[in-house]
Amino acid sequence: MTTTFPDGFLWGAATAAHQVEGGNVNNHYWEWEHAPHTPFREPSGDAVDHYHRWREDLDLLAGAGCNAYRFSLEWSRIEPEEGEVSRAALDHYRRVVDGCRERGLAPVVTLVHFTTPRWFHRDGSWLGPKAGDRFARFAELALPVVQDAEYVLTLNEPNLAACLPVLAEMAARGEPVNGLPRPDQELSEAFLAAHRRGLDVLRGGSPPVGLALVGQEWIAEDGAVEQMAAHRAAMEDQFLEAAADGDFVGMQVYSCARIGAGGPVAPAPELTTLAHIEDRPQALGESVRRVREVLPEMPILITENGIATADDAQRIAFTDAALRGLAAAVEDGADVRGYLHWSLLDNFEWFGGYAPTFGLIGVDRTTFTRTAKPSLEWLGGVARRNGL
Ligand code: FCB
Repeated sequence: MTTTFPDGFLWGAATAAHQVEGGNVNNHYWEWEHAPHTPFREPSGDAVDHYHRWREDLDLLAGAGCNAYRFSLEWSRIEPEEGEVSRAALDHYRRVVDGCRERGLAPVVTLVHFTTPRWFHRDGSWLGPKAGDRFARFAELALPVVQDAEYVLTLNEPNLAACLPVLAEMAARGEPVNGLPRPDQELSEAFLAAHRRGLDVLRGGSPPVGLALVGQEWIAEDGAVEQMAAHRAAMEDQFLEAAADGDFVGMQVYSCARIGAGGPVAPAPELTTLAHIEDRPQALGESVRRVREVLPEMPILITENGIATADDAQRIAFTDAALRGLAAAVEDGADVRGYLHWSLLDNFEWFGGYAPTFGLIGVDRTTFTRTAKPSLEWLGGVARRNGL
């Protein structure tokens, strides 16, 4: 089997604004992190100060041999109050796009990676009647920033974000979370409507536009094939079908979903990672194969894949195995354009705070000193060879 990837394949790593920038005091996550009974282990605070140290971070990525970087725009910095635009924030992100190009990194830019301005959240969020117009206006503001990106993503994992209300209810009832529940349908539809509005704005004036989805390897437990298919239809198929309107689909794959008669089944404890999900590298190739079944012609960009571990050798072994599965899917005909590892840096992992370490680079959160892990050099070597 060949483990060489197609010419022009992108190799790099991904981040998201709120998880690395620090000081994003004006979005709804910051508020949620500080609310009574917050589900967050700790607040995001300064994160890893990437807002100021992005040049150093891009130097490390490019220096290792990678040729792509995915990051997101922080809407609450660009539009801190409705209709009030920060030119300085737009300039910042434009400098990051240019800084990528100067270093030979293809910029892959996400418009919204979960976080929204407080004013948007307060006024109905994605279910509010003005959500589509507001997101379309934000996409217009972002156009001068993203026009020289390599790829643009409208929304990050709306199929996971639509599970959040259900997850929050389960947490409030004290129910164990064995895997991702079925997403809220009203919210799913609202996200997809917003995606279409973003697509209308970005199409024509910008690089290829797509949607970033969480993908999983779907496993029916004890013959629960119908339950698995129904869960997959809600969580994945409807989103893939909507992604067909775009130029490509971004797939973000970490693990598998085991579905039994009663819903998600917990993985064996000895297999779970620091992110409380199953260590399952083959999920990447399996997910790509499933995307091809639903969207046979669609170009695919792997916009996230990685493992939360304190053992960097385990990260390399996981990524090597994941890439072998991906190479096999490519050999069988999948049109995969690139691979962006999650994550460039150890970062703020949402409810998990700073405990789950996904980074190719470690960060001392007191001094902000960066230390590249062996996995960064390893991924750079894969990039330089364009193969394993
Ligand atoms: C994905 C998110 C990303 C990161 C990884 C571990 O669901 O898109 O922000 O937290 O999981």
